[in-house]
Amino acid sequence: MSGRRAPLTILSVVGARPNFMKLAPLARQLARRGEVRHVIVHTGQHYDAEMSEIFLTGLDIPRPDCNLVVGSASHAQQTALIMQRFEPICLRLRPDIVLVYGDVNSTAAAALVAAKLGIRVGHVEAGLRSRDWSMPEEINRVVTDRLSDFLFTPSRDAGDNLRAEGVATERIHFVGNVMIDSLVALLPCLRGGNGQRLRDVGRRPYVVVTLHRPSNVDDPGTLGGLLKILAELSEERQVVFPVHPRTGVRLRAIGWQAPGDGFTLLEPISYRDMLGLVMGSDLVITDSGGLQEETTFLGIPCVTVRPNTERPITCTEGTNRLVAPRGDALRRAAREAWGRRRNPPPRIERWDGRAAERIADVLCDGAHFR
Ligand code: UD1
Repeated sequence: MSGRRAPLTILSVVGARPNFMKLAPLARQLARRGEVRHVIVHTGQHYDAEMSEIFLTGLDIPRPDCNLVVGSASHAQQTALIMQRFEPICLRLRPDIVLVYGDVNSTAAAALVAAKLGIRVGHVEAGLRSRDWSMPEEINRVVTDRLSDFLFTPSRDAGDNLRAEGVATERIHFVGNVMIDSLVALLPCLRGGNGQRLRDVGRRPYVVVTLHRPSNVDDPGTLGGLLKILAELSEERQVVFPVHPRTGVRLRAIGWQAPGDGFTLLEPISYRDMLGLVMGSDLVITDSGGLQEETTFLGIPCVTVRPNTERPITCTEGTNRLVAPRGDALRRAAREAWGRRRNPPPRIERWDGRAAERIADVLCDGAHFR
């Protein structure tokens, strides 16, 4: 017996924009481990260069070993196609562990395939719950956690949710927030301000807006109401709005035009540009999950246009405030919050840039983080 351990094959599955910043720090950590072979599968759920390629290159993620090119479709079709195309890869590579990230369709689909083949599943960003079953992401979270052997939680409340659902404590690892790892890694290059593409932004105080949830953008009445208030706010602060493709389709469908100079519409921008933009802003108005956390970490006020959040710590300890998708509520919340930065920013336990290192310690060395 040589005493050398057999290499561990870890297969990461990503597919949609918010997955990439969670994968990046883990790919770096696993690359440092000689005993690990790390395979990356991209499902192709997101396929436009601005939704995928610029994140892979901007975050120095190794080129995915394969792309399932599933593209956009209904939830059932997209999930089924990912499963059909991912199963043969699992059968061929027989990974020891399949890692899935966040709460998108690619996450739940890959977890289902792996679990049914008896492959251990690790869920990065486990235990978050909005308790809102109208959100497809909530279904993905619950299904994925139920199938997972390693549940890597970003905050203590996430562990509490899992224990309340009967998940054994040994499976739950409170590792911290991997997305904050990516932010921390980029911070030194963000201090210099906005990148070239955004150099004209920031000459006057501004608010960053991102909206893409079906509940906010799919109904023309709700979307129109939100746009009306944003137009009003743009008379007092510049409104900078990088538009998600789903939202772009809806804006074109209602024939909406930006109302004058106070409104800057952008194509989706890179992670680095987005963080630079957020850091220089007076306020972020969003329905994104990740931005709720990034603004808390940076101390920037955030108004989240949703009735609930799976990230309550951003409200109880951070800078986040929830508002209903109604004009009057949004107008009031924005005016109360803008310019009120928290300095120093809130410090959340284990949002320290080392979450991926802890995950690698669990997977490779059998560590446990309570
Ligand atoms: C998905 C995730 C959501 C996440 C979001 C981040 C699910 C259920 N939803 O929502 O949790 O917050 O990604 O971006 O997994 N489209 C393009 N180009 C692309 C990708 C999509 O134009 O590269 C358009 C298509 O019209 C598509 C629509 O956007 O039908 C929606 O894409 P989809 O991946 O289904 O959901 P997202 O809204 O992006």
